[in-house]
Parts: sequence; structure tokens; C-alpha cells
Amino acid sequence: MRTTISVIKADIGSLAGHVKVPRELLDVCGDSLSRALKRGIIKDFHVTSCGDDIDLIIAHNKGVDSSVVHELAWRIFRAAANLAKERHYYAAGQDLLVEAFSGNIRGMGPGIAEFEFQERPSEPIIVFACDKTSPSAFNLPFFKIFADPFNSAGLVIDPKLHGGFKFEVHDVKQAKRIFLGCPEELYDLLALIGVSSRYLIKRVFRKDGEIAAVVSTERLSQIAGRYVGKDDPVAIVRTQSGFPATGEALEAFVMPQLVPGWMRGSHRGPLMPVAQRDAHPTRFDGPPRAMALGFQVSDGKLLGPADLFDDVAFDESRRMALEISDYMRSHGPFEPHLLSPEELEYTTLPQVVERLKKRFEPIE
Ligand code: 13P
Ligand code: 13P
Ligand code: MG
Ligand code: MG
Repeated sequence: MRTTISVIKADIGSLAGHVKVPRELLDVCGDSLSRALKRGIIKDFHVTSCGDDIDLIIAHNKGVDSSVVHELAWRIFRAAANLAKERHYYAAGQDLLVEAFSGNIRGMGPGIAEFEFQERPSEPIIVFACDKTSPSAFNLPFFKIFADPFNSAGLVIDPKLHGGFKFEVHDVKQAKRIFLGCPEELYDLLALIGVSSRYLIKRVFRKDGEIAAVVSTERLSQIAGRYVGKDDPVAIVRTQSGFPATGEALEAFVMPQLVPGWMRGSHRGPLMPVAQRDAHPTRFDGPPRAMALGFQVSDGKLLGPADLFDDVAFDESRRMALEISDYMRSHGPFEPHLLSPEELEYTTLPQVVERLKKRFEPIE
């Protein structure tokens, strides 16, 4: 049986600044998806949030890029944004950048990660959702999950993983893509994805072509032409039986790597793995959060979720993330806590610099 999982996310308004999605907005989404389920348009759904971002996790059989599913999500976000505007929630409609739906939700503001597969006899998946960072946050952990034998034991000891994985990498500057196989092109892969402000892992495939993972890589800033918030990403990973184990996928998030985002989308900070109940970034609007919900996909149904970072085993990562937060914060408005000029291009900083331009004079 072929099943499609679509995770579609948007920030359409939040409580007390960019902190948290109000319950009533999540209810608007849940009610609409319940109606779509009753009408047989989708097979199952789960609505959640990470910080100020709503995540619609939808199981259906309409394939990727389905205009029916995309339009459903678009209408839901519009309805929730209308309520957010009425209630004067913060940044109401933030991620809805165009007025009318035109066939595909990509390029319209919301982020989307989706894939279709033939359900295995048992089909565990993990939905990752982040707030206060960008899709580049998945480069390092996805490299670890699918190419680093020190992270994923299965690459060494499981014959089904031993052949390695193929990475689809997008050059977001040139709107081009390249496929690289690992382990054979491991150093080439790293040469690109280490420059995570430009090269993003979009998908990962097993060598037999089977889809393993997908990341939302919409670039809000490039769509809007001006800064409208970071494009807080989502991703989906298949685990076990021919894919990395659930615990191997989670292990890649133990180290709180430095990611761009945090306050005003302009600072580098540690990505902290948290339970959903702790996914409401407050300190300097952060630090950036990652949550992980585990599901069993069963005949198109989503059984779960299991809140996978809700485990004392991640306490030390969280503690380390807080220590790194103190250290990074102590840099104040200086790089490398502040992002590089190129990454700040779409923030409000250029307006400040513009005012000083005419006072610059040649050095004698
Ligand atoms: P079980 O033997 O508990 O199924 O675990 C197998 C496994 O792969 C754990 O990573
Ligand atoms: P979001 O991208 O999560 O809306 O946050 C924007 C921001 O400015 C945080 O300080
Ligand atoms: Mg916001
Ligand atoms: Mg956000």
C-alpha cells in the first residue's frame, strides 16, 4: 500500500511575541482536518506546534505535490490566520506571503516536507520540527544519521545499510541540485554541506532508490525578497528495518550544534533537543529548539506520537545547550554570535547601515 506523509508548517500568529501557538489556532487546524478525514480526503493527521510554528502532519494516498492536500493546508492556514488577525495575535499571517492559492503550496510561504512510500510490514517514522533556525540545521545531523558510522552502527553491522545512502543536495543560491553517494563520495558531500548557508540536504535515498528522509527547504527570505522571519524547518525520517534505527536518528541530535536563527533570525546559537511541551523558546527568543515525534504508519493511519526527546537521556544535551547559550550570548552584538553579513542581508540590519553610508569617506 502506497502512503504519502506530508508535513506542512507555517507561523500564522503567536502568543506574547514569537513564542507559542495559541491553543485556539491549533483547534482551527484540528477541526478542519477532522472534516477532511470524515470526507475521505486524507487518511489521518496530527496537529502540533514547535514554538510559534504550526505543523500539520498529514497521511494520505494522493502522492507528493497533491494540489488537493496542498490547497487543504493552505485554506486551513488562511482560516487560522484570519482568527489570529481578529485576535491581534503576534505577527498574524507571518508566513502566508501570497493572496491566492495557485496549485502548489511551495513558494507561497509555508514549509513542506513530504514523501510517498510502499508501507513496510512495520513503518516507523520520525517527524522533526524546529523553531528559531533554518533548514540548514538538518545538514549535520542528517549527515551523521546516514553517513557517519560513529553515529549509526547499522552502517557497519547491518547488511541492509552497509551499501550506504544517496544525498540530494540543493544549492539554494543557484537553484540547482546534485546527487552524491556515500560512503564513496563522502568528502565531496562534506565539501558542500559544511557550507550550510548555501548547500542544503533536501532528500536522502537508500542505494536501491527507496526514500529515507526529506527536509523542508523553502527559503522565506528569498520568496519574500525581504526578511519575514526564519524559515523554521521540518523533516521526516523513516527508521528501522533497512533504515537507521530510531535511536540512531535521535543520537545525531545529542550534540547541540550551532545553528543560525535565534533572536530576530540574526544570531547563532545551540540547537536544543526538547519535548513538545518545552518547545516554546523564550530566552532571547531561544535558544533554537528541535522536537521529534515518532509514529507508526499503519495502513495510512498515524499511530502515536511518541515524544522522542522527552527522555532524561537528552538532559545533558539540554544542559550543554544552556551553557553554550550563556557563552554565545556573552558576545552580544559581535560575530560569530551575530550572523555573517551575507546571512544578515534579509534582516533589518542593512537599513541601519544604509543611514551611515553617506558619512563614509576615503581613507587618506
Ligand atoms: P530490538 O531487539 O529491541 O528490536 O532492537 C533492535 C534494534 O535495532 C535496536 O536498535
Ligand atoms: P520566527 O521566525 O520563529 O517567527 O521568529 C522570528 C524572530 O524574530 C525571533 O526573534
Ligand atoms: Mg514568528
Ligand atoms: Mg518560528
